[in-house]
Amino acid sequence: MKTIFSGIQPSGTITLGNYIGALKQFVELQEDFNCFFCIVDQHAITVPQDPQTLRKNIRSLAALYLAVGLDPEKATLFIQSEVPAHAQAGWIMQCISYIGELERMTQFKDKSAGKEAVSASLLTYPPLMAADILLYNADLVPVGEDQKQHMELTRDLAERFNKKYNNVLTIPDISLPKVGARIMSLQEPTKKMSKSDPNQKAFISLLDEPNQIIKKIKSAVTDSEGIIKYDVENKPGVSNLLSIYSILGDKPIAEIEEMYTGKGYGDFKADLAEIVVNYLKPIQDRYYQLVDSSELDEILDRGAEKAKAVANKTLKKMENAIGLGRKKR
Ligand code: AQP
Repeated sequence: MKTIFSGIQPSGTITLGNYIGALKQFVELQEDFNCFFCIVDQHAITVPQDPQTLRKNIRSLAALYLAVGLDPEKATLFIQSEVPAHAQAGWIMQCISYIGELERMTQFKDKSAGKEAVSASLLTYPPLMAADILLYNADLVPVGEDQKQHMELTRDLAERFNKKYNNVLTIPDISLPKVGARIMSLQEPTKKMSKSDPNQKAFISLLDEPNQIIKKIKSAVTDSEGIIKYDVENKPGVSNLLSIYSILGDKPIAEIEEMYTGKGYGDFKADLAEIVVNYLKPIQDRYYQLVDSSELDEILDRGAEKAKAVANKTLKKMENAIGLGRKKR
């Protein structure tokens, strides 16, 4: 059976972008693959986090993973910082990375732009991400399009490691969703939707209440043309709403365009808001049952143990290949 690894940062409450680009795929993939899904809290601290909020977000993300349909009997769910091999292998991957290639990453450029003090870890985020994936010998990594560049670097680093040392690491492939690989901000539809966007109106989180969802969709930036048509180049706002409608409403985009011929953005947005609210309702109900339960702790404890067993084995192989540590007599 092939293995899958993917992670999400607890850097806020996950958005429809994270769900459509990543989580939704996870739920489908758990049926046919050996899956490891991780709450990558060590990645989250590459930018400043409030400790109490971070703790809350970690638990919340774990409950959301389960609430959207992840089955802990089928997939391994765990927290990155509870499996020390990630930081250890991350260091090794840093040692084979070049500063130049890390500086070329668009996420680094975006997140460091205009900042006076940028943490070194923002630059070394991709080698840690490579370690996350490679520790589980993942064959496939389901992510949104924004992570494509990091995935290409992961493959390069794994190939470099294998060439320099023994062929220890599995080279992973990337899996992008067919529709919705890049859900855009509701306020600036040429920018991706992000959970850490300071503008709350720019994203819909999976825990937003119905009236917040209605308001956010109502105020989503479109254009003055009044025509519901998918045209990313000229109508990024409407196209983004159409993608969300198509995925959550389970209808092809062409059919939705047809349904709204001659109708305005008001009707379209009101219907979309209803679809989103109804889609999220059962997820939110399940979330509130889980988030403060001891069941959640048990699932995460079991997940960490299972993850450790696999990750420690790969780490040992990497250390042996490099010559770290000593051979006991
Ligand atoms: N807008 C998006 N559309 C589709 N997929 C997306 N993903 C993120 N944004 C979109 C996918 O969600 C997964 C988890 O991402 P992450 O939390 O590890 O980091 P990110 O990509 O940086 O996501 P955010 O929401 O933008 O987080 P912040 O604001 O903290 O930087 C990934 O598979 C990603 O591709």
